[in-house]
Amino acid sequence: MSTMVPPIPMYRMNNGLDIPAFGLGMYRLQDGPEAETAVRHALSFGYRLFDSASLYGNERSLGRVIREGSVPRSEVFVTTKVWNSDHGYEPALRAFDQSLQSLNLDYIDLYLIHWPVERKRLDTWRALETILEDGRCRSIGVSNYMVHHLEELFENSEVVPAVNQIELHPWNYLSRRATVELCRQKGVLVEAYSPLAKGRMLNNRRLGEVASSYGRTPAQILIRWGLQHGFIEIPKSSNAERIRENASVFDFELSVDYMEALDALDKSLATGWDPTGKP
Ligand SMILES: NC(=O)c1ccc[n+]([C@@H]2O[C@H](COP(=O)([O-])OP(=O)(O)OC[C@H]3O[C@@H](n4cnc5c(N)ncnc54)[C@H](OP(=O)(O)O)[C@@H]3O)[C@@H](O)[C@H]2O)c1
Repeated sequence: MSTMVPPIPMYRMNNGLDIPAFGLGMYRLQDGPEAETAVRHALSFGYRLFDSASLYGNERSLGRVIREGSVPRSEVFVTTKVWNSDHGYEPALRAFDQSLQSLNLDYIDLYLIHWPVERKRLDTWRALETILEDGRCRSIGVSNYMVHHLEELFENSEVVPAVNQIELHPWNYLSRRATVELCRQKGVLVEAYSPLAKGRMLNNRRLGEVASSYGRTPAQILIRWGLQHGFIEIPKSSNAERIRENASVFDFELSVDYMEALDALDKSLATGWDPTGKP
């Protein structure tokens, strides 16, 4: 199996720190050999960002492989998230301690609110601001925040989130553009989760035509589309070949016409919980 893809570009966050434009999604990578093997493969192919969460139950495996040291800790970007059951100021502080302990690392690069739990999310954000101050976390952000969640946060907090992680692919981009635009205006980087729409749309005819015309796979086209929109892309795979395939997207560019053709596939698809319109 061939080795590394070219170095992955970085984006600059609103706090001056860099984040890789691409990484490995870790949802449904089972703690233990499956997650460890995937992370090892990803590191060997040049991945430097890993997107975990306390919910995913695989922080232990992620930390273990990073501590093996094949890549210096300073070159790896670790994201994890506070789950819904741990919202509120004190519970979120405890959840962070637990995640750091599970990872068994000195610090986390990015800690996200996984979901905007009603009534508690502002207290949770205050906990993240505290965690940021004490240095064990370099950046803080949110996930599944739509326009009204973001506006509430901007009005009631000191720190602007570094990142907002939301589901984004051609089948929902236009309907989520207001959220993307607001993030841009406020300097919040947009991270696209389920960038492959969980694999459900890979047989789409239009996508297949674009893939054929570039001699690429449908998954590579979707990831490239997201990168060209300026999103951080975090496709998940447990398979070494696909982990490499997904990262091999930095040596071609989609034309404006093809970008627009893909944008036009929008049908407000949410492959998981949909935060649109949720209080
Ligand atoms: N913040 C949130 O609420 C939230 C929600 C969902 C996801 N996320 C994050 O975003 C990450 C990615 O999203 P996701 O896991 O939902 O879905 P995804 O990355 O869109 O798709 C993953 C699926 O596609 C398959 N796949 C991967 N590469 C492929 C390829 N090259 N060709 C064909 N199939 C391929 C995978 O199977 P194999 O494993 O067998 O390759 C898996 O079934 C998650 O892992 C997680 O880190 C966050």
